[in-house]
Amino acid sequence: MQLFFLLLGLLFSVLQAQDVTVTDKMTALVGKEVIFPCTFSSKDPKVRVTQIMWMNSTVSLAVYSPHLGIHVNDPTRFQLVDPSPTSVTLKISRVYYTDEGEYSCEVTTFPDGNLKAFTKLTVKAIPQNSAEAKSGVVADDQEKVVATCKSANARPPSQITWHSVIPGNISNTITNNTDGTSTIVSDFIMTPTWTTDGMPVTCITNYDSTDYPIPLKLSVQYSPVVTIEGFDDNWHLHRSGVFLICNAKGNPPPTSYIWKTVDGSPLPSSVRAKDNVLYVDEVDARVNRSFLCEVTNALGSRASRQDVLVRGNYYTACVTSMLCD
Ligand SMILES: *[C@@H]1O[C@H](CO)[C@@H](O)[C@H](O)[C@H]1NC(C)=O
Ligand SMILES: *[C@@H]1O[C@H](CO)[C@@H](O)[C@H](O)[C@H]1NC(C)=O
Ligand SMILES: *[C@@H]1O[C@H](CO)[C@@H](O)[C@H](O)[C@H]1NC(C)=O
Ligand SMILES: *[C@@H]1O[C@H](CO)[C@@H](O)[C@H](O)[C@H]1NC(C)=O
Repeated sequence: MQLFFLLLGLLFSVLQAQDVTVTDKMTALVGKEVIFPCTFSSKDPKVRVTQIMWMNSTVSLAVYSPHLGIHVNDPTRFQLVDPSPTSVTLKISRVYYTDEGEYSCEVTTFPDGNLKAFTKLTVKAIPQNSAEAKSGVVADDQEKVVATCKSANARPPSQITWHSVIPGNISNTITNNTDGTSTIVSDFIMTPTWTTDGMPVTCITNYDSTDYPIPLKLSVQYSPVVTIEGFDDNWHLHRSGVFLICNAKGNPPPTSYIWKTVDGSPLPSSVRAKDNVLYVDEVDARVNRSFLCEVTNALGSRASRQDVLVRGNYYTACVTSMLCD
């Protein structure tokens, strides 16, 4: 069957021996130019071209006649480039999305009449993609937008998805612009906690079957999270060179560390506080108490407590229990 049509087609073109050639499918970008070539060929030297016309689906856009010259519908947008009886190229200088559709190149010859070929124009617009992690997000119990992604002025429309190990909800807003493009804004929504600070999320814009990923790092502000290290539950009287270290995370970073006693009494003179370290040069009975490390950042202060139990040294244990060898 296909062979039959192929043969019929060949026969037809041999009989006709003349041809109008255009590009079947064309793509143009909004605001840019597009060029439609149309060529005419004939094996019969007696055939004369009387007119070549480019049309959209409703009206004539430009006509060329070897005898009468050129007529262009809207010269500010349409132009014929170097027209001749064998080639008439239509140029649209600023493409609108409304230009999308079917175009035809119609060649009128003497004595054979009209021949036509069709071109389909698709108008596209490449979007501008952007994404940002919101700054100034504070960890609390409120659901909020922590990251936003935008794909602006796309034709065909783009889609946005998110890739994240943290669970979140997504809210998309699509706007149809007057130039036939569309803009999508996608919000990533969750309840931020201090553990989600710095976590990666990726916004993936899909435009025209291609993915455009933008990786982001969340920024979540929280007041300090404090822990104390260094007490090994083996602080004997006279043991020297021990210390407590106060570890704190915070966003913004902690600005001050204050060591205190839990009962509010001044720090004993046997300890020295330097930033986040509490040094004990030699353990004595005054160290036998609970300490607090209070850490402050721009969002507030939080403290952690360390109970220190001082054990009698080997010598005193020996004397009081009378168990020495
Ligand atoms: C054809 O072109 C004319 C002139 O530019 C325009 O007004 C009209 O909307 C076009 N029609 C279509 C279907 O594109
Ligand atoms: C997503 O939204 C639903 C309904 O508002 C809510 O119940 C759920 O906790 C949200 N999930 C996340 C991860 O924020
Ligand atoms: C935007 O255009 C699409 C079709 O192109 C339509 O389905 C949608 O409803 C429109 N949205 C708005 C908000 O007008
Ligand atoms: C430290 O205090 C505890 C009670 O809080 C007490 O049992 C212990 O003997 C004290 N250690 C020294 C070395 O005084």
